Amino acid sequence: MKRISIILAGLSIMAGLSAQTRITDRVGSNRSRHAAGRLDQVLKTVKSDGRRHHIILDKTVGGPKEGFVIRGGSDTIRVTGFDDSGVLYGTLALADSIRSAGKIPGKIEVSDAPEMVLRGACIGLQKPWYLPGRTVYEYPYTPETFPWFYDRSQWIRYLDMLVDNRMNALYLWNGHPFASLVRLPDYPYAVEVDEATFKKNEEIYRFLTAEAEKRGIWVIQMFYNIIVSKPFAERHGLKTQDRERPILPLIADYTRKSIAAFVEKYPNVGLMVCLGEAMQGVGPDDTEWFTQTILPGVRDGLKALGRTDEPPIVLRAHDTDAPAVMRAALPLYKNLYTEAKFNGEALTYERPRGSWAQLHRTLAGLGSVQIENVHILANLEPFRYGSPAFIRESVRGMHEVMGGNGLHLYPQASYWDWPYTADSVAGGRLLQTDRDWIWYAAWSRYAWRSKREARDEDAYWAGRLADRFGCGIAEGRRLLAAYEHSGRIAPMLLRRYGITDGNRQTLTLGMLMTQLINPYRYGLFTLLYECEAPEGESLAEYADRDWKGLPHSGETPAVVNASVLSDADAAVAAIDGLTLKATRNIDELRRLQNDMHCYQLMARHFVHKTEAALKVLRYKYSRDVRDLDTAAVLLQRSVEDYRALADRTASTYLYANSMQTSQRKIPMRGVDATFKHWKEMVPVFEKELSIFRTRIDSVRREVSSVVRDRESLPSVTVTSSLPAVRLDTGISLYTDTILPVLALAPELKGLQGSVVSFHDMRRTGTSLRFRSAVPVKVVVGYFRTQRAAFRTDSVFLRAPELETNAGADDRGQSDVSISNAIVLKGMPPVDVHTYRFPAGAHELRLEPGVCLLLGFTEGDRRLPVYDAGLTADDRLRNIDWLFE
Ligand code: SER
Repeated sequence: MKRISIILAGLSIMAGLSAQTRITDRVGSNRSRHAAGRLDQVLKTVKSDGRRHHIILDKTVGGPKEGFVIRGGSDTIRVTGFDDSGVLYGTLALADSIRSAGKIPGKIEVSDAPEMVLRGACIGLQKPWYLPGRTVYEYPYTPETFPWFYDRSQWIRYLDMLVDNRMNALYLWNGHPFASLVRLPDYPYAVEVDEATFKKNEEIYRFLTAEAEKRGIWVIQMFYNIIVSKPFAERHGLKTQDRERPILPLIADYTRKSIAAFVEKYPNVGLMVCLGEAMQGVGPDDTEWFTQTILPGVRDGLKALGRTDEPPIVLRAHDTDAPAVMRAALPLYKNLYTEAKFNGEALTYERPRGSWAQLHRTLAGLGSVQIENVHILANLEPFRYGSPAFIRESVRGMHEVMGGNGLHLYPQASYWDWPYTADSVAGGRLLQTDRDWIWYAAWSRYAWRSKREARDEDAYWAGRLADRFGCGIAEGRRLLAAYEHSGRIAPMLLRRYGITDGNRQTLTLGMLMTQLINPYRYGLFTLLYECEAPEGESLAEYADRDWKGLPHSGETPAVVNASVLSDADAAVAAIDGLTLKATRNIDELRRLQNDMHCYQLMARHFVHKTEAALKVLRYKYSRDVRDLDTAAVLLQRSVEDYRALADRTASTYLYANSMQTSQRKIPMRGVDATFKHWKEMVPVFEKELSIFRTRIDSVRREVSSVVRDRESLPSVTVTSSLPAVRLDTGISLYTDTILPVLALAPELKGLQGSVVSFHDMRRTGTSLRFRSAVPVKVVVGYFRTQRAAFRTDSVFLRAPELETNAGADDRGQSDVSISNAIVLKGMPPVDVHTYRFPAGAHELRLEPGVCLLLGFTEGDRRLPVYDAGLTADDRLRNIDWLFE
């Protein structure tokens, strides 16, 4: 008898509280069963207290969605959810409190429910590079391209992480997933993976959705429009994607059937629709495509299943007039959500303003739920980021200024390289979910509830950090301070000095001097300043006011520089020395420490360089070479900071940015994975400094380089569908409006411009058909206007823009060559872009909107990149030659 009880006691020690606790699951759902299992796991790790306990899981109605109540005491505790997710979350909350207390609570009375309706994270089925013969977003699901997609244990770890953070959505991003997942009787040849892979895809997709469902997670498949599969395109002699293509009945039928088959086959998967990029950005096509192809496709799938409910569909606002599409769609389909980027493809400002905030509020006001998308964090890549305060304030901003009630969270860094981080570590790669745990934890904590006291939050995060690194709470507080201080650096730098909020720019690699002093030349995305930053002054405005003795206001370069320097120093001071106190994850702590030093060097580099830029800008007015001398000293310091940053990252990082295609432009074009590491940028910055020194010598010797002889571009004769006129002052390029050319850059003189109807261009767009015996560049002038955030200007054609269209550089057209190139009476300034075509017959189709067709030049001719300065404003005087 005695022996048996000893064995039992031994068992119950091994099984912890689990052996003495009865869990009664009165719900019997997938989620409650999963929750009970998780609770039991926790009970096993808690020491036995020799008493019996009873935990009842139950469900009732009448409370908030996903909400729960936990009530009871030591003997009996009842967890009541208001739906299946409520039961799950209540049980997990109880498990958490048992784990942290190390015992079953004596008395408990808790009720809780989330604020945000959808709290999701996304994963890109995308790569840092294009697949051979393919273009942007086109990545069929295969084990060769995405080995991790087929790794079940990795999925379980990821889904557990999501549910631990109480997230309820997982978005998978891809261009055209359907041809990897469904086979259509009418288009069997469209499938673009082999038979074995197709089967694997079906299996893993079913596994993933079933495991997600148990954890209250809704899987949502995102797709871009209009993309078709490669075999489908080849069979029909079409391109896989073509922004300029009108809606073709064949493609509409194929897409409708693809969606129907997908909905029928994977009834638990939601859809997220991106109408942008691969179809005309804004216009009637979007609405037609959404209401006449996509929604009917969903309905066909539901009908085949005999379902009458409406599964949710999320519409992205990216590159489309989402309010207009939604107004047309809501009468047809009720269960729609909208989603728009919070701070572009970056993290810059907690409370966006202006037209961008207005767009979000308009979407929120439609009566559907507006989801805030924390998109690719192009300014945070690749260093660690985890400022709970910045994140908390951002989520509050989402509620208070955007009207958002959902979160769609991108990975903190390396989106295009999932599941790996950019760290270079011996013996393998780090996983994003391990490294960036605090990113997921902080956003989801505040998505659940954003209004929390700063003091309590500091204690909470210090505790978690102390736990993670096995140190005391005082050290935990220092770690938190390092995260909080470093967390303001990249947002402030980008919003005050950046060219764009898009992933065209990698902030941590630095910026060229010409990008700082003449950002317009690089396609400045002004929305960043107008909406995604507090009011303040740019470098040019600051220099102008300084020279004129006018008062400064708002967030100025001086304010930003002082702030980032002190934050960087504070972050380093907080973390240095902590590795001696940590008892766990010490290697990771060293890497975190290294990141804080990287932030510090990056901050110093930017501060020195922008101070140099202000001196250079001052020179525009002063013409005093001493300003340039001071600038040279500052610029030299910035190069030294940068060298130190390159040294620190040389062995610790594989790359700065995970998008390594030619769409990356700032600071340098990233063709074929080049200019992705600091060490590649060091020679660029060194050369910039040495050129500057030579130029200062020239200035001192009064050999001015400002005025150089500029030559006309050679004009190539083509056979064209449009009448031509030789470019010169006095001529007009429109048949139906008199807008004479008042001035033009010497390069343009003598080109054969095409004459078109202003009215037709504006209303229906432009088609320029031509035949050329040699390769040519078509020279196009775009008017630079202030346009609203989400609408095309009603008159002018928008210049090709990678922020909204990843195909905007197919013909090299996204770069501005000559800015302020031509003046037309009463019209905005004009920037010149070119489209490269091989010899042969072609059509250049442009969306509705007015622009200038300025002629044809040689296809291999490199156009000068400069600012012709043809505008009324003296501030635009060009001094880029000082650096190049
Ligand atoms: N720029 C692309 C988009 O917004 C990829 O992130 O969809």
